[in-house]
Amino acid sequence: MDKILVHGGATLKGTVRISGSKNSALPILAATLLTNDPCIVHRVPDLSDIHYMLTILSHLGCDVERASGTVQVKAAQLRTEAPYEIVRKMRASVCVLGPLLGREKEATVSLPGGCVIGDRPIDLHLKGFEALGAAVRVQGGNVKVLAPRLKGALIDMRGKYGSTVLGTDNVMMAAVLAEGMTVIDGAAEEPEVVDLANFLIKMGAKIEGAGTSRIIIEGVKELHGAEHTVIPDRIEAGTFLVAGAIAGEEIILQKVNPQHLLSVTVPLQKAGYVVETNGETLKLRRNGGSLPLELETEPYPGFPTDMQAQMCALLATSPGTSRVTEHIFPQRFMHIAELKRMGADIELENATAVIRGVGQLSGAPVMASDLRASAALVLAGLRAEGITEINRVYHIDRGYESIDEKLNLLGANIERVKA
Ligand code: EPZ
Repeated sequence: MDKILVHGGATLKGTVRISGSKNSALPILAATLLTNDPCIVHRVPDLSDIHYMLTILSHLGCDVERASGTVQVKAAQLRTEAPYEIVRKMRASVCVLGPLLGREKEATVSLPGGCVIGDRPIDLHLKGFEALGAAVRVQGGNVKVLAPRLKGALIDMRGKYGSTVLGTDNVMMAAVLAEGMTVIDGAAEEPEVVDLANFLIKMGAKIEGAGTSRIIIEGVKELHGAEHTVIPDRIEAGTFLVAGAIAGEEIILQKVNPQHLLSVTVPLQKAGYVVETNGETLKLRRNGGSLPLELETEPYPGFPTDMQAQMCALLATSPGTSRVTEHIFPQRFMHIAELKRMGADIELENATAVIRGVGQLSGAPVMASDLRASAALVLAGLRAEGITEINRVYHIDRGYESIDEKLNLLGANIERVKA
């Protein structure tokens, strides 16, 4: 397994181009199952999670062609079973359930396992499918959904931790081919849900209200092919903003949507950094020291859980005491123990990390765990004295397109060591 060596102490400066959004591309690629016409999707990032999704689509019988950032999918004759050996590698595979149910009126997908950020149930997805008239059976580690016909319904997607992003996507993708009107209440409002809705509308779906908590869908008989460019990855962008805050003088991000990043740029400004926007460009520069923060993760438009670990890495060396509370995935603190190995002073109080800023972190061998925790360790390594060795780098490659190369272009000193 590859590892990454981060030589701390470099000052970052320069421009980085942000890739297309992983969490938008995944459901949009799944949505191509809804038509037997070819669909073309641009700005698909080159990530292992995307590779897994394309493997699933091929397994389901799709013709898949990829040329750099553009993917063409033609979902002609479909199989409706996604097996464990593929699904287990990526939980987001569950988002093929909705389009298969919508198009083929049946689907069998292996139940996603849990992962290090916590139990990853899909009960809300299944409740939505049942509301549309599907029978749901869980057996042998698989979930099977079956519906002779799908009828529009009023569905509330709220769960104990708020709404569900992929659950909203899944139900939307089944409802677009159901008979009659579906109202999704408590819908997730993330930009990636809006991007999926915009792609479905290009395919001929009738959807209103995406981006709000109430989405209204008028079912249609069939959908046709469409061409779409995926929105920028707001979490990759946020990660690079934090890199600039931790180790930068000034960095410029190109091809971003600043509107999608307000819940990250506002706290960074509160911490004392200067953030300027100009169209699709975001600039961050230091302006003296970093101030402590009180942060709580919330569904969009609140502070994103996918940026929680990265901000902990920044606040570890921000003078004063900060508090970061995780409301979406209360166990999402695998990065804390690793940051403490690097000298951070952090105590966990239930789902709150109490972070007392230290003057300096020291490089150490650390273990990557989930995608964003791994990115946080790279960021901490930028600032640490000495070398930080990050093992199990495949976690990072799932969600970041060449993060080491992009950071080195900004002046970092990162080596990737083939194991
Ligand atoms: C999406 O996951 C993202 N993944 C996650 O990003 C992100 O952290 C998450 O949304 C929250 O924003 C993709 O889009 C591929 P949820 P998703 O369903 O949709 C609970 C990354 O780093 N829940 O919105 O699976 C759930 O346990 C990844 O790119 C239920 O209880 O997340 C969690 O506590 C990590 N029942 C909360 O809701 C359900 O049926 C939000 O989960 C579904 C979810």
